[in-house]
Amino acid sequence: MVKLNEHYSELKDSYLFYNISQKVKAYQEKNPDKKLYRMGIGDVSLPLCDAVIKALHSAVDDQSAKESFHGYMPECGSPFLRETIADFYYTRGVKLSAEDVFVSSGASDELGDILDLFDRSSSALVIEPAYPAYLDANVMAGRKIVHLPSGIDNGFLPLPDEKVKADILYICSPNNPTGAVFDREKLQKWVDFANANGSVILFDAAYEAFIDDPKLPRSIYEMDGAETCAIEICSLSKTAGFTGTRLGYTVIPRTLTRNGMSLNSMWVRNRTTKTNGVSYIIQRGGAAVFTPEGQNGIKENIRYYKNNARILMDSIDKIGLWYTGGKNSPYIWMKTPSGMKSWELFDLLLNDYQIIGTPGVGFGECGEGFFRFSTFGSTEDTEEAAKRLLKLR
Ligand code: MLT
Repeated sequence: MVKLNEHYSELKDSYLFYNISQKVKAYQEKNPDKKLYRMGIGDVSLPLCDAVIKALHSAVDDQSAKESFHGYMPECGSPFLRETIADFYYTRGVKLSAEDVFVSSGASDELGDILDLFDRSSSALVIEPAYPAYLDANVMAGRKIVHLPSGIDNGFLPLPDEKVKADILYICSPNNPTGAVFDREKLQKWVDFANANGSVILFDAAYEAFIDDPKLPRSIYEMDGAETCAIEICSLSKTAGFTGTRLGYTVIPRTLTRNGMSLNSMWVRNRTTKTNGVSYIIQRGGAAVFTPEGQNGIKENIRYYKNNARILMDSIDKIGLWYTGGKNSPYIWMKTPSGMKSWELFDLLLNDYQIIGTPGVGFGECGEGFFRFSTFGSTEDTEEAAKRLLKLR
């Protein structure tokens, strides 16, 4: 009899966002006439910007002619996109070469796949509350998980200390779910810690484009020594509305080695074995994001979401509840009223106000008593939801 991966039985019954979608589906079936205000999963609502759409159309045309047709793409990404991304980092003061950049089909896929680089006996540190896939992907692999809870006392930005011992360190900044952002000094501490201990940081930069404050780091490579201890995983999902289009990139500097092995060379070996690359059409669309026209387009969309965040924050200020995020992040992380449990608030908001959010406990035990709002909906819906939220006063 085949032996299955028994670690699956250690997982929670279902994935957080699946769980929520099932609850919402059941509510909608019972109440087909009710309009819902969706601020749960961080899925974008604005269409792709013009520069991307033009590039996608033109790439489709390329596929119609023998001279410009593309079959299999290079597994690690097309040189045109790898170079474009490396140049983009350069404009922000980070020197990378195109070979340090790998094109991926999105950060969530990559955050799981990248674990192939590490032995199953290595441990993974998860700063909680955390994006649930960090935990689940490592539970599936049977890895030891080191939970590092955070809270209001440290602004949801914990620092390493001698009690923290782990090989793989997940850091997400701006953080999902809390929206908290590590400043340079704090992030430098994690980089120094990783270098001193031979650990590797998996830096999830999916929300970097939401940082307005120029003092805050958008890439871990802005820190001294990060090129010898960090992998950066980024995505165009939230930056440029690619949640359904799928495109991301991963930076593994060639200076990152452990036990005499280059993680960059290992990833080349992995990708050339396990993928046939991302589609030519999508990569052309992705490259357009980094053109001046593309940057203007995506910034306009990000401003739209940030305005939604402002509307929601105004409302939460009026209710008088504690929250973080919202300023350099598309997520607002709010304390529940009157010590309510986070699923209790989920049910109340859904049943009484038709607002869908995400219960904080879904991101780890220390998320109990908190609630996450995503600001990727339409402004009309956000305004209505903000008005309804005032009833929590
Ligand atoms: C979230 O809502 O946490 C994210 O949208 C989920 C994801 O990026 O997969």
